[in-house]
Amino acid sequence: MSMLTGFEDVVRADVPLSEHTWMHLGGPAEFLAEPTSVEQLGELIRRCREEELPVRLLGGGSNVLVRDEGVKGMVIMLSAPAFESISIEKRRVVAGGGAKLGHVISNVVRSGLAGFETLVGIPGTIGGALHSNAGGRGGDVGQWTVAATVMTHTGEVSQRTREEMSFGYRESSLHELIVLDATFELEEDDPELLTKRMQKQWIVKKAAQPLAHQSAGCIFKNPRGMSAGMLIDQAGLKGTRIGGCVVSDRHANFIIAEEGASSADALALIEDIRNQIEQRLGVELETEIEIW
Ligand code: EPU
Repeated sequence: MSMLTGFEDVVRADVPLSEHTWMHLGGPAEFLAEPTSVEQLGELIRRCREEELPVRLLGGGSNVLVRDEGVKGMVIMLSAPAFESISIEKRRVVAGGGAKLGHVISNVVRSGLAGFETLVGIPGTIGGALHSNAGGRGGDVGQWTVAATVMTHTGEVSQRTREEMSFGYRESSLHELIVLDATFELEEDDPELLTKRMQKQWIVKKAAQPLAHQSAGCIFKNPRGMSAGMLIDQAGLKGTRIGGCVVSDRHANFIIAEEGASSADALALIEDIRNQIEQRLGVELETEIEIW
């Protein structure tokens, strides 16, 4: 009996993670699992624990940079229909951890619920969005979250109420848990007005960020009271290149990975930007993207 007996249908070995991340860089996952139910996810989590296999959750892959050597252990994606449901009742929205944030946004706007339209253009899944409280100037996901169903790394399922969760700037108390679903309470508004607001926001965002390119979201967190993009721009680093990776001309907190780029190029460019900003401006930048 192998250590993954019983999971043959949902676990694959040696799967390139470049196919599952926005930067399209990096090596394979030792194992990649796409469980089909909460029960199966729980069994898999418990098996990985018994076998001492490290577990990581991959959402939409828009905030992760995988190293060229790949990732040891089990990478789990909640991509099965069981994790992607979205239901709306009055002002309450319940979305699965694997549901795409973009799908949730368009559904709630169509239903005349306000709050999420400012999040338009943020990629990724609900689980990923809650993990690091995705947001922008118009607000974040955490401010609308009233409950969540989570699974621990021992496979136990439990509920979290609003009072039991905390959300800060790109951080949340749920970051070590698997989000199975989340409940949001939004505000009623006119669907037509909301659609217009969302479209306007989308145009502003598309003009400011290189959304169509091979890149992740912002590379660095904004230091308190400052914009990392503005600092990198002011330091004259737009267009700086290492190998196939280049600092975006549109928004300096984005790195574009061109054809033939490697993860090592991206990591070297991140380090170079960090060093230059520290030496020239005395500001320490912290990465927002996760490096696996
Ligand atoms: N700016 C420059 N040069 C640049 C980029 C920005 O001068 O290359 C200036 C802008 O002109 C503006 C200021 O810096 O005056 C702030 O820029 P922006 O409005 O683009 O906001 P930001 O602080 O750079 C944050 C979030 C984004 C989010 C936007 C809009 C972080 C790290 N970034 O960016 O989030 O989309 O606000 O809401 O919090 C992300 O987290 O991945 C992300 C993209």
